[in-house]
Amino acid sequence: MTSVTVRVPAKVNLQLGVGPLRDDGYHDLVNVFHAVSLFDEVTAAEAGRLTIEVTGESIDGVPQNDDNLAVRAARLLARHAGLVPAAELRIRKRIPVAGGMAGGSADAAGALLACNELWDAGLSREELMELAAELGSDVPFALLGGTAVGLGRGERLTSALVRGRFHWVFALADGGLSTPAVYAECDRLRTAYGQSVAWPRTSEDLMSALATGDAQALGKSLTNDLQPAALTLRPSLRRTLDAGRDFGALGALVSGSGPTCAFLAESESHAVDLAIGIQGVGVAKAVVRAYGPVHGAALV
Ligand code: C5P
Repeated sequence: MTSVTVRVPAKVNLQLGVGPLRDDGYHDLVNVFHAVSLFDEVTAAEAGRLTIEVTGESIDGVPQNDDNLAVRAARLLARHAGLVPAAELRIRKRIPVAGGMAGGSADAAGALLACNELWDAGLSREELMELAAELGSDVPFALLGGTAVGLGRGERLTSALVRGRFHWVFALADGGLSTPAVYAECDRLRTAYGQSVAWPRTSEDLMSALATGDAQALGKSLTNDLQPAALTLRPSLRRTLDAGRDFGALGALVSGSGPTCAFLAESESHAVDLAIGIQGVGVAKAVVRAYGPVHGAALV
């Protein structure tokens, strides 16, 4: 085998419940992940050493060196399997960079799966999931896909029952937001407003909307505790969210730590209208449509 290509989906968080800051600098979460049909492609090809090349639109800020999470994933896998980390990694990016859709985590998951095949390293899915959790809180979900509830840092996953398919519109913003900065702003706002932080709990309304495939109910139960922080750091997102609501989105929220905004549509045709409407009022750098849930990282 001289090269292996893996397709990995983006995610949107249907519920992001953020608990108090822990001693290790993380927050306990209730994180309902939903994989959507917006994919990065990660190829690992035979080579004498480990290299990386990233292509795609708007890839400024993606490290093309050892700092890239995909490179760290390949090194971690090689160390774990007792192999020399030699591969040419090629990443074709479609997931927005630093957009709150876990694009970097997707690439790391893709590199784990692709290198495991290329090197014939023989790690099981469970072992790959463990390495994934070491790389970042969102990496295990990129391997798993579908819709899942993540507890702990978000890495302790349980798949959720979902009926049918949901149609989404994503408004991409100019420039990214740093995930640690958004979490820090969330803590700052909570302290400044003297908010007591309750332990987050999985929303029953959300889980039953998913299980029955009820888009109206799902739209009403979407929540993101990081949204106030993302809106403080990027106030223009308010106009983006308002535009989606004006065009009849069933639900509108910031995706993860942002700045991508996610809008739930009633149907595929409504998603087309919603996308055209949002694009037309000039509140986003670009608008894309996708559906979910989709599978996690998979060989092409
Ligand atoms: O795990 P990951 O490296 O993706 O996390 C990036 C940053 O996001 C962490 O350094 C932390 O600031 C924040 N984070 C958090 N609580 C979580 C997950 C992430 O505070 N559960």
